[in-house]
Amino acid sequence: MKAVILAGGSGTRLYPVTISVNKHFLPIYNKPMIYYPLSLVMLLGIREVLFIVNPDDREAFKKLFGDGSHLGMRIQYKIQERPNGLAEGLILAEDFIGADNVCYMLGDNIFYGHDLVQIMKDAKSEIETAGGACVFGYYVKDPERFGIVEFDEQGNVKSIEEKPANPKSNYAVVGMYFYDNRAVEIAKNVEPSERGELEITSVNEEYLKKGKLKVKLLGRGFAWFDAGTHDSFLEAGEFVATIEKKTGLMVGCIEEIAYNNGWINKEDLLALAKPLKKTDYGKYLIELAEKE
Ligand code: DAU
Repeated sequence: MKAVILAGGSGTRLYPVTISVNKHFLPIYNKPMIYYPLSLVMLLGIREVLFIVNPDDREAFKKLFGDGSHLGMRIQYKIQERPNGLAEGLILAEDFIGADNVCYMLGDNIFYGHDLVQIMKDAKSEIETAGGACVFGYYVKDPERFGIVEFDEQGNVKSIEEKPANPKSNYAVVGMYFYDNRAVEIAKNVEPSERGELEITSVNEEYLKKGKLKVKLLGRGFAWFDAGTHDSFLEAGEFVATIEKKTGLMVGCIEEIAYNNGWINKEDLLALAKPLKKTDYGKYLIELAEKE
């Protein structure tokens, strides 16, 4: 399985902050927002990642991640000329995905919770063995902001709608999707929505029609943030700060994960930590490298 992370879009809901800077570079506490989805992909053991980026931001992304070799990864970039919607990323990623399955992540979504990685690993292996699509639902109080999934009494998925004016449930579909290879073809056939975007919800609806959509619920033990508004951005940062200060362990630290995965060695880690040594982030990496 390969991973595609969407990091384009216009970020208008964070204006004026994002007039001159792409939101994915903004700090969620002590690291750029984009580290969080990348770290989950890495925890899944996926080393091949494509970022979908705006034309103006490619160089900045390259500055941040290069070709990924310093993390033992292979990172590539694909330009999305305009924010035409989330499903367009699948079309743009066609060559990168090739004959593989795909873990499709939104660059502004932040997750935290016990066993999250196991849940993701289960979704990955289900797609690898049985095909189809697997998405996740999370109970929210403001369902009109999200893709919403409706269940029948047996817990089967009845419908899935993008930002409904009259939501049929409070279960939002979060920004982490597992697809088999058909997703690219499905995305190619998606018609633009009323707001003129190729919606990821339309891709999910198509899987639902084929009887190939699984929706798993992330329960109340999980924290999920779509950091695309001023409030949720702030809440996500405060949440990460609280967890990190309580535990002394970092959330979304990509160098740590690369090291723990055995993708880089102690010397590599120390080299990555060196330019950061004045910060707690850098000190954390140095301590990690020096632990026996
Ligand atoms: O956060 C979960 C929600 O994300 C889902 O519940 C919705 O079904 C889904 O449509 C999406 O809704 P948003 O309105 O929050 O999407 P947003 O425009 O914020 O874009 C999500 C990410 O994708 C963000 O990191 C920017 C990036 N993006 C967005 C668009 C429209 C792109 O890379 N290209 C795009 O064309």
